[in-house]
Amino acid sequence: METVILKPLDFSENDPVIKEAVKLLKNGEIVAIPTETVYGLAVNGYSPSAVKKIYKVKGRPSDNPLILHIDKIDMLYKIANNIPDIALTLANRFWPGPLTMILPKKDIVPRETNGGLNTVAVRMPDNDIALSIIKLCGFPLAAPSANVSGSPSPTSVKHVFSDMNGKIPLIVDGEECECGVESTVVTFNADNMVCVLRPGAVTEVMLSEFAKVIIDDAVLNKPLSNAAPLSPGTMYRHYAPKAEVAIVETDDDEAFNRYVNMKGNDCFALVYNGINPPDCDYLTYGESGSEQAKNLFKKLRELDEIGVNTVYVRAPSKNGIGLAVYNRLIRAADFKIIRL
Ligand code: TXA
Ligand code: MG
Repeated sequence: METVILKPLDFSENDPVIKEAVKLLKNGEIVAIPTETVYGLAVNGYSPSAVKKIYKVKGRPSDNPLILHIDKIDMLYKIANNIPDIALTLANRFWPGPLTMILPKKDIVPRETNGGLNTVAVRMPDNDIALSIIKLCGFPLAAPSANVSGSPSPTSVKHVFSDMNGKIPLIVDGEECECGVESTVVTFNADNMVCVLRPGAVTEVMLSEFAKVIIDDAVLNKPLSNAAPLSPGTMYRHYAPKAEVAIVETDDDEAFNRYVNMKGNDCFALVYNGINPPDCDYLTYGESGSEQAKNLFKKLRELDEIGVNTVYVRAPSKNGIGLAVYNRLIRAADFKIIRL
């Protein structure tokens, strides 16, 4: 299959690229689309046969459910049941935006989409191209990140092409993703508390304006192999480049530099701006949390282009969006953390 990359000229419903994407999606094909977080591999979320194609091209375990992407609140009521008030409050505040909510599902959602659970994950992306496509389709788009399962999520068309060339007919070019890490995934308990299953750009502090917030254990800890996780995606090794990743956690710039320099020829580091080990090759991934989030997956892919064997990553702060960056990094490192 030939994979073409097309860039919409305007983001309206009359744009020929958007129309082509809609035509393919209505025919049950996969189209890669931009969102504000990462690129998604979209299909008709109501179509079991279309959804099955996603699992095949990604090499994704079939028990790892997909997020349904909607363009307006009406669509939420078609797919979710018994929506708690707190979910509506959060939708009102954070949609369109990088927040995914796990809600009781309606029968219209096929088991192929949600891994046979009785819940469904829903979000409204903050991207005009994605919103126009969903609106014209008239159905929600099931869309995981557009990477091969296990590799870093794609934040540019180049990344999508490198993972999906020959496997899908169309990649819609929406330039580089703003956030760079996937959406915050939350669930609600009986007391209307919000539980964060995957941290993202909608942070704990932002959510706690509206409800009591709990951070699920799996956000910072390796899941036990026999545990049934709240979010199946947390079970798998994720976001990993081919290079072996080791996280180095320390507040001390000098200690970090001494540690990586000891590695001699093997040394390659991923660091913040301005804190550069003098005797070691390195890439930087940004100073602030939002810069780090935007750059992280791009830099992990660059390590493979360079051919790095082992990379020592200076651990980011866990505050704000930093928690999302840290959460992705410890998975890329398969929880290998060196504390100095
Ligand atoms: O930002 C994003 O969320 C991107 C863009 C494309 O929207 N999508 C994304 O999808 O990251 P994916 O499939 O890579 O990650 C979805 C996560 C997985 O960890 C999955 O296990 C979890 O959401 N999830 C989906 N449905 C769920 C459900 N019903 N219950 C619990 N977790 C669920
Ligand atoms: Mg993913």
